[in-house]
Amino acid sequence: MSLAEAADNQLAALRQLWLDSGGLLVLRTGEALCPKDFLRFCRAFGPLEENEKYDPDFLLPGYPEILRLGNLYRDGKYRALFVRAERGEVLWHTDDSFRYPQPAGSIFHCRTHPETGGGTWYAGMADAYDALPSRLRRRIEGRFAVHSYTFLDDRLRQDNPHRREMPLEVRRTHPPVIRPLVVNHPETGRPALLIPDCHIESVTGLEEAETRSLLAELLAHATRPDFAVCWQWRPGDVAVWDNRSAMHAGSPFDELEARLMYRVTFTGPDTYDGTR
Ligand SMILES: [Fe+2]
Repeated sequence: MSLAEAADNQLAALRQLWLDSGGLLVLRTGEALCPKDFLRFCRAFGPLEENEKYDPDFLLPGYPEILRLGNLYRDGKYRALFVRAERGEVLWHTDDSFRYPQPAGSIFHCRTHPETGGGTWYAGMADAYDALPSRLRRRIEGRFAVHSYTFLDDRLRQDNPHRREMPLEVRRTHPPVIRPLVVNHPETGRPALLIPDCHIESVTGLEEAETRSLLAELLAHATRPDFAVCWQWRPGDVAVWDNRSAMHAGSPFDELEARLMYRVTFTGPDTYDGTR
């Protein structure tokens, strides 16, 4: 059956499956969905966001909800958000944790992809929390982290010289925010680790070196093969991940080959809004 023909109750069942999975649903559809059908699928998960903070050239013309990601380059400039995956280091993160509310989930639709490379890593943070040694659990109990867009931007700029200067308005509307290191999922109630170290400028009460070593230790635990998987994309694939219970990370590919993904983010109850 084509995803474009899925009935509303089938889409609702997929949403439930996504929640029950711990944060990742991947469908190998083999079809290039038209923007309208893709957006109908996405709306079954939550109200869609528009991509105000991105260069309008990165958006699919006529569909501001759809951000193009990849190395699409035309007429002397990138027409997609191109974030080069670092070699060696893996930029584990959860989308836009540096704002309230962060998108509840994100959706990829693969359009064009190299045969090899460019896979996306996913890791389940609720299972990782459940298996956390009690020594680490005690260390992070009640601690908060500062998540910052400018901190991430500085890091990305090191490997992405093509990245445009962050507009002043975006900087002004994205001040750093705090979030606990352990969050409760507002829909499933499960506790999960929230440790996107490339967004985290500091952990409250810790010095810089302690912050980095604590996050490194937590990440090493949370991204073990028990909790992580790398998805190798084929055109037509659709993946939905939950930013409140899963982290993800890109991996490098041959940049002489084309990679193009459509990305949509949707809203939903956040794990934290800065007031508790
Ligand atoms: Fe991401």
